[in-house]
Amino acid sequence: MTRTLIQDLKNHIGQEVTIAGWMYNKRGSGKLYFLQLRDGSGTTQGVVEIANVDPATAKAAEELTQESSLTVTGRVNQHPKNPDIFELQVNNITIIQLAGPDYPISKKEHGIDFLLDNRHLWLRSDRQWAIQRIRDTIIRATVDYFHTNNFTKFDSPILTPNACEGTTELFDIEYFELGKAYLSQSGQLYLEAAIMSLGRAYDFGPVFRAEKSKTRRHLTEFWMMDAEAAFADYKDNMNTQEELVHAILTAVLTERQAELKILERNVEALEKANLPFIHKTHAEVVKELQSMGSDIQETDDLGGDDETILTKKYDQPIFVEKYPAPVKAFYMKRDPEDESRVLCSDLLAPEGYGEIIGGSQREDDYDKLLARIREHKLPEAAFSWYLDLRKYGSVPHSGFGYGLERLVTWICGLDHVRESIPFARTPYRLTP
Ligand code: 4AD
Ligand code: MG
Repeated sequence: MTRTLIQDLKNHIGQEVTIAGWMYNKRGSGKLYFLQLRDGSGTTQGVVEIANVDPATAKAAEELTQESSLTVTGRVNQHPKNPDIFELQVNNITIIQLAGPDYPISKKEHGIDFLLDNRHLWLRSDRQWAIQRIRDTIIRATVDYFHTNNFTKFDSPILTPNACEGTTELFDIEYFELGKAYLSQSGQLYLEAAIMSLGRAYDFGPVFRAEKSKTRRHLTEFWMMDAEAAFADYKDNMNTQEELVHAILTAVLTERQAELKILERNVEALEKANLPFIHKTHAEVVKELQSMGSDIQETDDLGGDDETILTKKYDQPIFVEKYPAPVKAFYMKRDPEDESRVLCSDLLAPEGYGEIIGGSQREDDYDKLLARIREHKLPEAAFSWYLDLRKYGSVPHSGFGYGLERLVTWICGLDHVRESIPFARTPYRLTP
């Protein structure tokens, strides 16, 4: 049997083809059935005229249940009014497995907890299919961008002896005779070692945060892409981020229109977001937020609500630069123009989505970095390898990390991050 993918039906108009997939919906009765079919590459309709098929196929059409797996052979017809739609005039159905009659997910509305409990099945629905396809395009556009720009893919470890982003959100495990190990919060520190060999590098993998926050933006396991470059200051760092996000948006808008349509995403908003990004300092943003009614103070981090109200005002992503040092990580380089601030930027997505990227120039001076490690009361011994990078050929360098699920959530227009990842992990959910 040669199998044709549904996405390629357009190349087979008038021909007989066989597709292999699942039946997700059936209408009609007696003489005529309309089967909604999907095969992973797309969806199509199969039309079964009972009078024109063999008895086995007629029986199959009658007994088919939702989510049964099957092969369908038929002639490809182009829709008379819409040339982008194709259907199959079915002449054979072979059932591979007749699904049980009690498939839990139907067309009616289900509650989110029910859907998450049935995530292994929910993934088959058209919206979830579209989200995973867009996620894949974001990943591929990222890899392409870095490949084109001379960044080497580097695989940072997940089991680590120390924290990267602060000790309050660390998952720890007993590690044989060696005491505690921690699940990585970001591969950044290892990438800093990588670039002293490779110049430019990025990693892409799961990271973990033991945050008990129940928000629409937080997961305990998520995918981070960290990038790092030698001889790059914090402005170069923002340029790279802007180019990367443009490349991602362009790829999704070019390749994933059908998926965006399924999600009812406002494509115009994404096109607008793809224009030059906005830059503001933390100090400017605090004033702006105060004028909008926020109680944020000069030395405060932006809260989730602050990010929401700020980014609802703008059509493009916003870089918020130079946060007060105390609200940011120990490794960030101080601003020579104002030692109370660091050379960092957070990139916030528009439409109320908020932070998608965190980045900064790194402290490259041995003594200053050691002083920060002590100020933050971090275990010095665990960071001795990291300090070595400032002892042997230290250079100015910068980097950033994006949260893949935050990008997917924004680009797909979802209202919660839990749909953006195949199997969401939160403080309240570990299954399926
Ligand atoms: O801002 P963060 O904490 O920065 C770092 O980890 C740096 N070491 C990255 C670097 O410079 N290489 O995390 C980076 C991004 C955030 O901007 C956000 O998009 C995402 O990771 N993120 C989360 N996504 C989902 N759930 C969580 N709990 C997240 N925490 C951070
Ligand atoms: Mg951050």
